[in-house]
Amino acid sequence: MTDIDTFPVGSLPPLGEVPKRMYAQLIRPERFGEPKDAFKEEIVKVSRPGPNQVLVAVMAAGVNYNNVWASLGYPVDVIAARQRKGAPPDENFHIGGSDASGIVYEVGSSVKDIKVGDEVVVHCGAWDPNDPWIQAGKDSVLAPSQLIWGYETNWGAFAQFTCVHAHQCLPRPRHLSWEASASYMLTGGTAYRMLYHWEPHTVKKDDVVLIWGAAGGLGAIAIQLVKAGGGIPVAVVSSDDKIDYCKNLGAAGVINRKNFDHWGAFDNDINKPEVFLEWSKKTRAFGKAIWDIAGKGANPQIVFEHPGESTIPTSIFVCATGGMVVICAGTTGYHAAVDLRYLWMRQKRLQGSHFANDVNSKEFNQMIIDKKIDPCLSRAFKWEETGLSHQLMRENRHPHGNMSIIVGAGKEGLGKSG
Ligand SMILES: NC(=O)c1ccc[n+]([C@@H]2O[C@H](COP(=O)([O-])OP(=O)(O)OC[C@H]3O[C@@H](n4cnc5c(N)ncnc54)[C@H](OP(=O)(O)O)[C@@H]3O)[C@@H](O)[C@H]2O)c1
Repeated sequence: MTDIDTFPVGSLPPLGEVPKRMYAQLIRPERFGEPKDAFKEEIVKVSRPGPNQVLVAVMAAGVNYNNVWASLGYPVDVIAARQRKGAPPDENFHIGGSDASGIVYEVGSSVKDIKVGDEVVVHCGAWDPNDPWIQAGKDSVLAPSQLIWGYETNWGAFAQFTCVHAHQCLPRPRHLSWEASASYMLTGGTAYRMLYHWEPHTVKKDDVVLIWGAAGGLGAIAIQLVKAGGGIPVAVVSSDDKIDYCKNLGAAGVINRKNFDHWGAFDNDINKPEVFLEWSKKTRAFGKAIWDIAGKGANPQIVFEHPGESTIPTSIFVCATGGMVVICAGTTGYHAAVDLRYLWMRQKRLQGSHFANDVNSKEFNQMIIDKKIDPCLSRAFKWEETGLSHQLMRENRHPHGNMSIIVGAGKEGLGKSG
């Protein structure tokens, strides 16, 4: 116990001394809207860990698209959703943040393998260790109790402390700064599962993989993961200034999607032969751009999807016979139309994928520790720029790769060694 009530952001109390209250960036229903206005610093209580939990002093927090959605209150009002499930009425706020690096300050009574002072990164796949699904040893990310910490759950990383399940904690890569350590786990774990989990459609030597949004958080990691597996990453971006960035990460070539204009979901007109012919001509031209990079006839064995509505028709069309379109989001919309002829005749797989299980997360984190993958931190924002970082993301004006926010590490961060 300690008598400390609060302490300033950018500093830490003595190891193991947990203050009564903390600063956090809160979203409240009355502020739902543009991220720049949705987040506001407030003082709240510090939660204490349950038997299987640990309390982590957040050194830096990662910025992800999910808290753009949380700010908007759309497509899910995460606060109302929790209230419906019985969250205390006075918790009518959201503390987001689904990535963190930090130092363990307190451990629950049943936690065996983590101790006070450990430096960790936190992955966002929270599940209840007592869930029968988990106890049966099944894939944890499919468990009924599985929730994304800092999005579906409250008390995420945009605070001085966060209480997480012990199984969410992984060793921090010591060659990285706190801010880089906080930046990669959500996008990296997701990309790793998409590319290496869905047997037999995992990246193999010389497989062509088409990567949408290749300079974004998911994409920048995906390029490196494909390259690491001996595949041929073909990147798609929306501006030429992203080309060198993707090539430096290992892309075999880069397509600027602005050179094409056939995007969007199908409407009923697609049933008119002349409309379909025009669409397929344009889509074939896009496919030819892939061949120009990967070789004639080299259709992607895997299409790495997340824009969704706008790009799915093209993804299904260009995917190789027997290949897989694997999708984890619908940034441009959820109502994607698929020309089923290409799906069944060419026996393609359309696979949903969501974050990662503990094994996926651990394996990906090890690739970071082994320096096989760079986290691609582009910018570490100040604490008071939490809203700004999400606003830039919402407007697709954010810097390439992944971003983080400095919390306990001090306003300027602590550099490489932490
Ligand atoms: N289910 C999960 O577990 C999971 C995990 C991580 C992320 N996600 C979701 O995945 C999405 C992307 O996340 P992220 O972190 O990579 O975001 P990001 O850094 O913003 O990157 C997304 C990229 O998508 C591209 N894009 C935007 N509009 C597009 C359009 N109309 N057509 C094609 N590409 C478009 C942009 O690249 P260009 O403009 O250069 O093309 C942008 O860089 C978000 O919706 C996020 O919520 C889901």
